[in-house]
Amino acid sequence: MIISSTTDYRAAAQKRLPPFLFHYIDGGAYAEKTLARNVSDLADVALRQRVLKDMSQLDTSIELFGEKLAIPTVLAPVGLTGMYARRGEVQAATAACQKGIPFTMSSVSVCPIEEVAPKLNRPMWFQLYVLKDRGFMKNALERAQAAGVSTLVFTVDMPVPGARYRDAHSGMSGPNAAMRRYLQSVTHPQWALDVGLLGRPHTLGNISTYLGKNVSLEDYMGYLGANFDPSISWKDLEWIRDAWKGPMVIKGILDPEDARDAVRFGADGIIVSNHGGRQLDGVLSSARALPAIADAVKGQIKILVDSGIRNGLDIVRMLALGADCTMIGRAFIYALAAEGGAGVTNLLNLLEKEMRVAMTLTSVKRVSEITGDLLVQGG
Ligand code: FNR
Ligand code: LAC
Repeated sequence: MIISSTTDYRAAAQKRLPPFLFHYIDGGAYAEKTLARNVSDLADVALRQRVLKDMSQLDTSIELFGEKLAIPTVLAPVGLTGMYARRGEVQAATAACQKGIPFTMSSVSVCPIEEVAPKLNRPMWFQLYVLKDRGFMKNALERAQAAGVSTLVFTVDMPVPGARYRDAHSGMSGPNAAMRRYLQSVTHPQWALDVGLLGRPHTLGNISTYLGKNVSLEDYMGYLGANFDPSISWKDLEWIRDAWKGPMVIKGILDPEDARDAVRFGADGIIVSNHGGRQLDGVLSSARALPAIADAVKGQIKILVDSGIRNGLDIVRMLALGADCTMIGRAFIYALAAEGGAGVTNLLNLLEKEMRVAMTLTSVKRVSEITGDLLVQGG
């Protein structure tokens, strides 16, 4: 199979993974309109082509929260990463570090913090969800701090899981789910051996470590629905901000008013995101929500953005729309599922190459020069 893009990695991931996992990654909420618009609105952003300015020396790096990033992107937190490749969090994080960008571990990862952090040559980021059992949060923060995690990502757009119709049909949830997943594994023997057998234990590593007993993935979506806490509000975040020593970033902002609240609250950054179209369908794509948010808070807080980024040109587009940095979710997960850590490394190299092409043809030598000036109005 020839791999030249995220689209190719998606096809390769679909071949390798049992359908319940592929559709969990690939799918979104309800009719998946926002999921599709995340990609299509971004692809419609037109840039000004400029030529003949000696673009032989380009610098794709940025500095963010005191860390150097070789390219302006971070691996987004993705639950169950260790189900897509053997101990997948370790493989993805190692590839990110080799490239010189941060990996963000999800609260609902398979590998716990302690399995991944010591293997890395730079600090990782950690994403926190609010469980009804608030002891988990305190425990996770302490463990993250002890493991040298640099930045805390606090995700606020999942007080309840979105309605994802594909999951019920694929065997991720729904009737006879366990039996259907077993049958799917048998017909995907490469995955079954590599991850299903040799990638054990399959548990929610961070939560199991906290509880001192294994939380199995038997009814994962049911677990999220029963244990995530919809009562969360800005007030609850105060002790976390005070307890956490490093930068704190709020993930899941889609409205300028919420962005202003994040500034007032004292967050170091926000992540403009609709959770990759997995939560409330019909909300604005990130590419369309971003400019108004940047107008409201640019310069007062770091603006990161995700949802819909599939190549290096998309990264440049998001920066032109007002972001300081980006995150990628599905793009790296497809690559990880298809080829493990080597796939993530290859994908990140592709993103850099594509960024360089975009910077060359828009005549910007440094990331800080990627601004709204690059946009063609009405394009
Ligand atoms: C996610 N996302 C996510 N976000 C988060 O804060 N914690 C999590 O555990 C997860 N889990 C998760 C699982 C899967 C399979 C996907 C695809 C996504 C959302 C993720 O961090 C990011 O916001 C989106 O993936 C960005 O959109 P793209 O890049 O996938 O289009
Ligand atoms: C999801 C959660 C885990 O999007 O963030 O599936």
